[in-house]
Amino acid sequence: MTKRQSIFVSLVVAAVAAMPMSAIASEGEGLLEANTHLTDQASLQRGAQLFMNYCSGCHSLKYMRYGRIGDDLGLTEKQVTENLDFTGAKYLDHVNVAMNPVDAANWFGKTPPDLSLTARSRGPNWIYTYLKSFYADESRPSGWNNTILPNASMPNVLWQLQGVQHPVTEPKHGSEPCAKGEFNGQCIKELVVDDAHKGQLTPEQYDRDARDISAFLQYAAEPAALEREAWGWKVVLFLAFFSLLAYLLKKEYWRDVH
Ligand code: HEC
Repeated sequence: MTKRQSIFVSLVVAAVAAMPMSAIASEGEGLLEANTHLTDQASLQRGAQLFMNYCSGCHSLKYMRYGRIGDDLGLTEKQVTENLDFTGAKYLDHVNVAMNPVDAANWFGKTPPDLSLTARSRGPNWIYTYLKSFYADESRPSGWNNTILPNASMPNVLWQLQGVQHPVTEPKHGSEPCAKGEFNGQCIKELVVDDAHKGQLTPEQYDRDARDISAFLQYAAEPAALEREAWGWKVVLFLAFFSLLAYLLKKEYWRDVH
């Protein structure tokens, strides 16, 4: 190997080592790609606001404090109290729900789970796909169902933004299971927004909101990942600089020997 090749190889190794794991690990079949970016602060800020508006009424983030969200997402205490905290919690309090868990279990048939670690157990792509997979189903107590969490007891809380989706079905193929679940004894092929109940957002805008919420939950599940991603490039640059230095030093050292 020439010197130049060996420098190139060490740079490639350094770059791969600095890549976040999420970019390497694949996350399961049939999920949509959320394209979350933890380095996109505006996306995380929008996600935090959407989460607090539409989700925090039922779901807590018990390991997360409002103050930490402010520090990590570049928001002042005033911005956090005015835009994110609707429960009257103090700046350093954890993100809890006001609802009593027993009431919640009675209303929804199930206590809404804490979402602190969901992005780690399920992955951001799962959350994104979930938020895009609700459809109207009269047979369910809430009036809603979901193709990736069949018989979910959560209603589609974002329906005004997305519009009401209905399933398009096709006959089953023998005993093969349906990839996206069943509706009225047929396989669900796809979900389409009802013309009579369109959402306030365009499909692209809705996808962006779903992505931002997924990104915020990804951040919340592992706040340290923010710093790691920011460090990744610094480490690569440092290694590149250091390799160059080592190369020049080596050249200098051997100059008189040859
Ligand atoms: C009205 C109460 C309510 C609201 C508001 C709500 N959820 Fe839920 N959510 C639930 C319930 C109940 C479940 C349990 C569903 C089940 O397992 O059947 C659930 C389940 C979930 C799950 C699945 C967790 C798992 O690992 O199984 C995710 C993810 C989730 N919700 C995300 C959200 C997000 C994001 C929002 C805001 C856009 C939101 N929820 C708003 C009640 C709610």
